[in-house]
Amino acid sequence: MAQLISNMCSIQPVVPESYILPPERRPGQLVVHPCKTIPVIDLDGDQNELVQEIIKASQEYGFFQLINHGVSEELMKDVLVVAKEFFDLPAEEKQRFFSEDPKQTCRMKTSIDFAREKVHFWRDSLRHPCHPLEEHIQQWPENPARYREVFGQYSVEVRNLSLRILDLVCEGLVLEPGYFGGELSWGQKMSVNHYPRCPDPTLVLGLPKHRDAYLITLLNQGDVPGLQVLKDEQWVAVEPLPHAFVVNINHMLQIISNGKLKSADHRVVPSSNVARTTIASFIRPSSDVVVQPATSLVSESNPPLYKSFTFGDFIGSYMKDTLEGIDPLERFMIRP
Ligand code: OGA
Ligand code: NI
Repeated sequence: MAQLISNMCSIQPVVPESYILPPERRPGQLVVHPCKTIPVIDLDGDQNELVQEIIKASQEYGFFQLINHGVSEELMKDVLVVAKEFFDLPAEEKQRFFSEDPKQTCRMKTSIDFAREKVHFWRDSLRHPCHPLEEHIQQWPENPARYREVFGQYSVEVRNLSLRILDLVCEGLVLEPGYFGGELSWGQKMSVNHYPRCPDPTLVLGLPKHRDAYLITLLNQGDVPGLQVLKDEQWVAVEPLPHAFVVNINHMLQIISNGKLKSADHRVVPSSNVARTTIASFIRPSSDVVVQPATSLVSESNPPLYKSFTFGDFIGSYMKDTLEGIDPLERFMIRP
């Protein structure tokens, strides 16, 4: 069975061999830009500018930070406190969520694909669906005692906020109102990530360069840095802003917008002096829904860049392609 790093790192004074990346894949490989940052958007700001600001950031960076978004500071902090309490539990308690049973949807995972990958990544995560809440909450941890209550309230509020952002994106792309409702935003998945302190962060990555598979991600990254976004061949650090969500465009939104919006590469670098806990919420389409560039966005002069396919087809090959360093969108592209 895969060993959680949050269980073993307290007894590991050095990075175990199986986590050490080959030199060309280590975090120092590209410069981290010293002052560039991703755009910050105020959801409570000038409403006339808001839609264009979101589209511009999604086009240029595929990432932005959202402030004044209406989810309370208290809830954003509380959910991280509960997440940290979960990862601080004794090993046996967390180990219960390791399962091969496909009916168990709430699962613990370490690294990405521990059994198959060549090198492991410095992350443990607890993943579970959250929408509709009543269908999933019974599978969530009961320890810490506040897990279900706090994560329940948080997931509902984050889903509502995500749908609001998708409505603004819909307006900005001039799609028919409600385009992202229904089957495209059928589900929601949470990944509670924990990156323990690492004895030598220059040798490992918490998460390798990847792009998210779904529609949109809202990340609560707390106050510990570590997330980096690739922009013009340079890594840009995403500075933690108090009480902000990091929002990023996923693969499906890149396809629907026919490449106008960008699903950007990002990665996580762990720290040597403090553990980092983050919570990512993904809005995901149903497996049967057909995804394709929106018909109103394609024309003879702007032909579709992607084929149509079901989301289930895409997710089936996404993980394997990502781990092999292949662009998961490649097989769905239309070549002129
Ligand atoms: C992810 C991710 C970033 C972070 O879960 O897909 O990119 O900072 N997380 O934890
Ligand atoms: Ni990601």
